[in-house]
Amino acid sequence: MKLIFYLSGDFEELAEIEAETFFEIFGGRTVEKGSQIAVGECSDEILNHLSKFGLIHEVSKHLFSCRSLKELEDEFHNLKIPEGKICVRVKNIGRKKVDSMKLERELGAILWRRGAEISVSRPQHVIRVYFSDRIHAGLLIRETNRKQFLLRRPDLKPFFRPGAILPRIARSLVNTAGIKEGILLDPMCGTGTILIEAGLMGLEFIGFEAYRKIADGCAVNLKYYGLPANVMAGDVRKMCLKDEVVDGIVTDFPYLQSTKTLGEIHELYTLAFQEFERVVKRKKRIIFLTNLDVDELASEHFCVEHKIHQKLHKSLTRRIYICRKR
Ligand SMILES: C[S@@+](CC[C@H](N)C(=O)[O-])C[C@H]1O[C@@H](n2cnc3c(N)ncnc32)[C@H](O)[C@@H]1O
Repeated sequence: MKLIFYLSGDFEELAEIEAETFFEIFGGRTVEKGSQIAVGECSDEILNHLSKFGLIHEVSKHLFSCRSLKELEDEFHNLKIPEGKICVRVKNIGRKKVDSMKLERELGAILWRRGAEISVSRPQHVIRVYFSDRIHAGLLIRETNRKQFLLRRPDLKPFFRPGAILPRIARSLVNTAGIKEGILLDPMCGTGTILIEAGLMGLEFIGFEAYRKIADGCAVNLKYYGLPANVMAGDVRKMCLKDEVVDGIVTDFPYLQSTKTLGEIHELYTLAFQEFERVVKRKKRIIFLTNLDVDELASEHFCVEHKIHQKLHKSLTRRIYICRKR
């Protein structure tokens, strides 16, 4: 099936890779990208996984794509009208391209003249028209419940430490790891944001955390969401795991210039990368967040597929490395 994903504008680069990963793990690929839009093809199996999205705001069944208003109206004159009450909703992406309310009325009127039953307040079908680099139209299938991520904000969890990542980013990263079934590892799990998002999606997970007090706090957070407390006090540089047992790694390095108590920073990265390479299965993804450029070291161990820069504030830019074990 062909789908349109409407993506987050805040973290668009990561959202694009999350979308691409979804298409790929369900046997397909992205066929077109535009501002905040990814159009792709994949198997129908994806329909059972739409509640997992992190930075994908909406998904629609693709109807058509075109370039001009004239072509859009022509398409509406020939569109197969779905049975039941319908309405048209137009979305400008980026700067205002059209008067969306006026266009919704005009497109709705075309369908009404062709015999469609229109209901703006209680539609059974919504025809979504996105004005991105091109115009894309689809039948809306699902909108992501974004409120859930606010309700799981780090400061609303029973155990809180500053520096925890946002749940919607954590979820997108877990999705980008591309694990359909299997175990996700976060070897520096802190308060457990990544583990919680993985667990809520039904994935198995393992967490390590250097400080026992934080590992215990992470266990409290996991239990709060009804998840197993699969977290241990342990060191990323020497994990008590067998070789090639996990199906993906998502983790967030400490944002320090040097870890005085836990050894020198270069040693931390060198030994952590050796361990990542050892414990993850072949061809699986390793995703890590850091404030450092570690391209050379990472390339010695993995294939670096993407690197995203995210400016958090004046003196802190986060790098997201998306790698794959060779
Ligand atoms: C940036 S924080 C992770 C935050 C986490 N993603 C969250 O949402 O709470 C990095 C964590 O790594 C832990 N850490 C530092 N060195 C470590 C090591 N050698 N092994 C395991 N954990 C380590 C720190 O205690 C800290 O909790």
